[in-house]
Amino acid sequence: MPDGQSFVLEAKSISKSFLGSVALDGVDFGLRRGEVHALLGENGAGKSTLIKCLTGAYRRDDGAVVLDGVHIDPRDTFEAQRLGIGTVYQEVNLLANLSVAENLYLGRQPMRFGITRNAEMIRLSKALLAHYGLDIDVRLALSSYSVAVQQVIAIARAVDLSGKVLILDEPTASLDAHEVEVLFGIINGLRERGLGIVFITHFLEQVHQIADRITVLRNGRLVGTRNKDGLERKELVSMMLGRELIEETRNAAGETLLAGRVRFRFSQVGRKGRIAPFDLDIAEGEVVGFAGLLGSGRTETAEVMFGARQADQGSVEIDGKETAITSPQAAIAHGFGFCPEDRKTDGIIGDLSVRENIVLALQARRGWAKPLSRGDQNALADRYIKALDIRTDGREKPIKLLSGGNQQKAILARWLATDPALLILDEPTRGIDVGAHAEIIKLIRDLCARGMSLAVISSEIEELVAYSSRIRVLRDRTHVAELRGSDMTADGIINAIAAAPKNDTHDKGQNV
Ligand SMILES: Nc1ncnc2c1ncn2[C@@H]1O[C@H](COP(=O)(O)OP(=O)(O)OP(=O)(O)O)[C@@H](O)[C@H]1O
Ligand SMILES: [Mg+2]
Repeated sequence: MPDGQSFVLEAKSISKSFLGSVALDGVDFGLRRGEVHALLGENGAGKSTLIKCLTGAYRRDDGAVVLDGVHIDPRDTFEAQRLGIGTVYQEVNLLANLSVAENLYLGRQPMRFGITRNAEMIRLSKALLAHYGLDIDVRLALSSYSVAVQQVIAIARAVDLSGKVLILDEPTASLDAHEVEVLFGIINGLRERGLGIVFITHFLEQVHQIADRITVLRNGRLVGTRNKDGLERKELVSMMLGRELIEETRNAAGETLLAGRVRFRFSQVGRKGRIAPFDLDIAEGEVVGFAGLLGSGRTETAEVMFGARQADQGSVEIDGKETAITSPQAAIAHGFGFCPEDRKTDGIIGDLSVRENIVLALQARRGWAKPLSRGDQNALADRYIKALDIRTDGREKPIKLLSGGNQQKAILARWLATDPALLILDEPTRGIDVGAHAEIIKLIRDLCARGMSLAVISSEIEELVAYSSRIRVLRDRTHVAELRGSDMTADGIINAIAAAPKNDTHDKGQNV
């Protein structure tokens, strides 16, 4: 049987440009029945754009889309859904103010005599979410739940709508290990029923676990489609990058950097119910890594350090002087920067340009009465666009038009532009592709070589080992160990984490 006949969905020579910049250039893509097909590529490679051209979220400039042997041209995602293509977009696009049940049945509410049957909708919603182990009040507004729960709801809706094809654009970025397992269980079930599933992610471990075939895009072009079996990780990475990745190893410099003087001293800082009191000194030019499972208290540690949540005990000294850090404003005034984990809720202002997003924190620190000149803003923006290799055609592009990973880099640039004395990074490489990973690691090293102090939270243990001067291990909202020198190995950290009484060694999948 020729390949074509087994395709449920086929894209033929799809092209798409935005104001003259080419996002997709004649891309072919074939999805078989009963396969999980991973779509991979660097930030800005064109993955999300390809999906949107398939589902009618974007108008394609050229090319054809064939579903079950029939040419289709969905005008919008609702029409694509009616044809049997369920999609979870990278940006959750449900309606925050509607209830969970209304979101699940948006546009297809159970009706009788022209009236929505509310009780029925609530019953169906509860049953639907039960498959995902989610037992929540579906009458509450979507916004009353965490990003992870919202993501599960978006997935449940898409799966329910996907008669033939299910497309998931980075669905696991905000899920924990258990939620990922539940999702994979459901994906496996759909694959057995013969659905075609497109799965976009930067977690190569997850690709290894679930994909049958892999398609790689680079700069809007198809690099190739391969079976997962027999494709070595190294080869896959070089397909994505178009070059060999020099894998980062141990940080030889880390230990010598320890010599700097202590600048920041946190003594018995804590907050009831969130993080047990801890002591922490951070020296000039030092990188302190934080390892632990999700929910172990890493983000909570960062939040009390930054004053985003007020500590209810303890004290902070900066350069030997006791200093009150009772709010983020106070922290910023004392030279702290904090790049939080969730760029969607904590960072991006979509309609503002890349330049405006980058200068924001610096401008806030100077005060709005002392505006940065346009020339200074331009120079700053250009400097960081170059330093972090932010893929954008120009600093004036609205940031929402950048790919997800490039938005992440812009938020990092925002904090770097303030030239902080202590920079706290929460999962700086999540959602960022392999090439940018290496760049960010290099950047972290350069920054501490210049004397900046860093606190970095990461689930990427190998990476933490590569750039940290020492590593704090957290468990059950308590700092339980500190590893340095030759003890600072991936195994050592995993052992310290796993020594937990509640032994659960799972964490989110690992980026490359
Ligand atoms: N609506 C838009 N207007 C202008 N440019 C856009 C728009 N959407 C995407 N682009 C551009 O198209 C290119 C491909 O972006 P796309 O979002 O498809 O990347 P991606 O592979 O999904 O990346 P990521 O892994 O970061 O999510 C990028 O250069 C992006 O800036
Ligand atoms: Mg994308």
